[in-house]
Amino acid sequence: MCGIVGYVGKKNNCTNFLLEGLKKLEYRGYDSAGIAVANDRNLKTVKKKGFLRDLEPLINPERMKGSPGIGHTRWATHGEPSDENAHPHLSCEKRLALVHNGIIENYQELKQELKLKGHHFTSQTDTEVIVHLIEEHYQGDLYDAVKKGVKELRGSFAIAVISADDPDLLVAARYDSPLVVGIGKNEYFIASDIPAILKETRKVIILEDGEIVKAKPDGITITDFDGNLIEKEITEITWDAEAAEKGGYEDFMLKEIHEQPQVILNTMRGRVKEAKIILDEIGLPRELLKRLERMVIVACGTSYYAGLVMRNAVELFAKIPVDVEISSEFRYRPMLIDGRVLVVGITQSGETADTLVSLRQAKRVGFPILAIPNVIGSSAAREADGVLYTHAGPEIGVAATKTMTAQMVAGFLFALYLAGIKKTISDERREKFIKELLKLPRKVEAILDREDEVKQMAKKYKNYNNFLFLGRTYGLPAAYEGALKLKEITYVHAEGYPAGEMKHGPIALIDENVPVVFIATKGEVQDKIISNMEEVKARKGKIIAIATEGDKKVADLADDVIYVPWTFEAYTPLLAVVPLQLFTYYTGKLRGLNVDQPRNLAKSVTVE
Ligand code: G6P
Repeated sequence: MCGIVGYVGKKNNCTNFLLEGLKKLEYRGYDSAGIAVANDRNLKTVKKKGFLRDLEPLINPERMKGSPGIGHTRWATHGEPSDENAHPHLSCEKRLALVHNGIIENYQELKQELKLKGHHFTSQTDTEVIVHLIEEHYQGDLYDAVKKGVKELRGSFAIAVISADDPDLLVAARYDSPLVVGIGKNEYFIASDIPAILKETRKVIILEDGEIVKAKPDGITITDFDGNLIEKEITEITWDAEAAEKGGYEDFMLKEIHEQPQVILNTMRGRVKEAKIILDEIGLPRELLKRLERMVIVACGTSYYAGLVMRNAVELFAKIPVDVEISSEFRYRPMLIDGRVLVVGITQSGETADTLVSLRQAKRVGFPILAIPNVIGSSAAREADGVLYTHAGPEIGVAATKTMTAQMVAGFLFALYLAGIKKTISDERREKFIKELLKLPRKVEAILDREDEVKQMAKKYKNYNNFLFLGRTYGLPAAYEGALKLKEITYVHAEGYPAGEMKHGPIALIDENVPVVFIATKGEVQDKIISNMEEVKARKGKIIAIATEGDKKVADLADDVIYVPWTFEAYTPLLAVVPLQLFTYYTGKLRGLNVDQPRNLAKSVTVE
């Protein structure tokens, strides 16, 4: 997500550190940047949409001399990328400046209250409420005001705040969003990520949720939100700069696979309240959704498979037919869809040319358009009538991993939301499904704990050159995605196929040289899948099965099994793709390949 840096200490000019620190976070992607420093009992701020190279020429070195200081690279979540929405944000009196990473769920309520108290807002961000909230509590003690303010926030945040009236103080706090303190000699550095401060120090304190740091040049204190002192350990960072960018992981792909539990939470954040799905933010009239008769989803690549998962959930919960179309095909077909149809574009980048054209064509003939992008302010988001952001944070690895997971979560949320509006599902049933949604992060963590088993399996199968991935109904999109990931990253031929179709072709391929990966989790058609496994076994095929925890029957048939926790069938692809991502990752590594940048592929395909 966003990048944060901060400084307090002996330097009377920290602008250089702030810019250099932010540059070290550029690899994460961002859309705007800004810095603020305390100078002569005033705050000086510069912020700009675009890159650091757009910000730098605006910095007058004399004017921006000063300390303490804070800096930020923004990856928009609330409010499009613009100069006004860039951080730092200032209080009404311009005596406080703040940078923030995360999402404030109750910002609208807080904004209303603060407006009634006379606060004036200049941006569309959720962040701006925090600085006004702290201003509201500020009575000359910044630490005290932050402590009171953070208690009123719901959501995730890492913040750093400075005050014009206290030129020797930097206050920072975290909840559900990373923040570290770097320790220098009579100086302290704050950052959302270690790479930003590695040049200055290797001694860091890693803040935990619910902690506030009060940093002055002569020392720091760390407390909880009630003001109780907390003793913290100092960690010596031994990673080099490159490893630090990857959070200690060897590759971005692996880091992003591991981020998935958090990503699921982020995509649900603020959207699940008391067993209800609140998605009014998407901006489509409820009346339109209530009368909806059909949906058409357009997408490419991995997003297309997330579309299949969404289709299954919408058909199950909201009980309307859904077609899922490959954008590059849809755009050249006659537009024969008719009736009360919503056209949905799933695209993490929001810039995929074929998906954009498909959406535009559907819009031109009068259909309402919903975009499900990850990038705020992307073309798909700007052109659609409604937007449901996935909030996965920037994905650096070319292969989609965490963005697909976020797309699936967005699909489930939308399906349940629509079902609520159309009243196609009982409250009791919806509640059950929502409760299970909340358990998915923990279940993904349980799969990630099995990483070593998957690695061993990759060792066993790394030299095979053909794979089949088979699944049925809810499991099928996971089979498709498993095959696509393996192709993209390892250049091994892999085909995803409906297991029921095996007898109409792929069965001819099966022998001891073609491992077959089955999505064999518990569900309505599991017996049929088991029969397909028998057919493979009879032909000496090797079987790898993704099965539900404790399922002996599948384990007995398979040569290798990876267990995933039980979940409702509609949600199984979200769990099933995780071990397949790991399998691909380790196969690619064992084959000595660059898993983050596979040959011939682009992260975002903006040409036809
Ligand atoms: C490229 C990427 C894929 C992605 C596809 C669609 O092929 O390499 O990972 O799934 O584009 O991208 P989108 O941004 O529209 O989701």
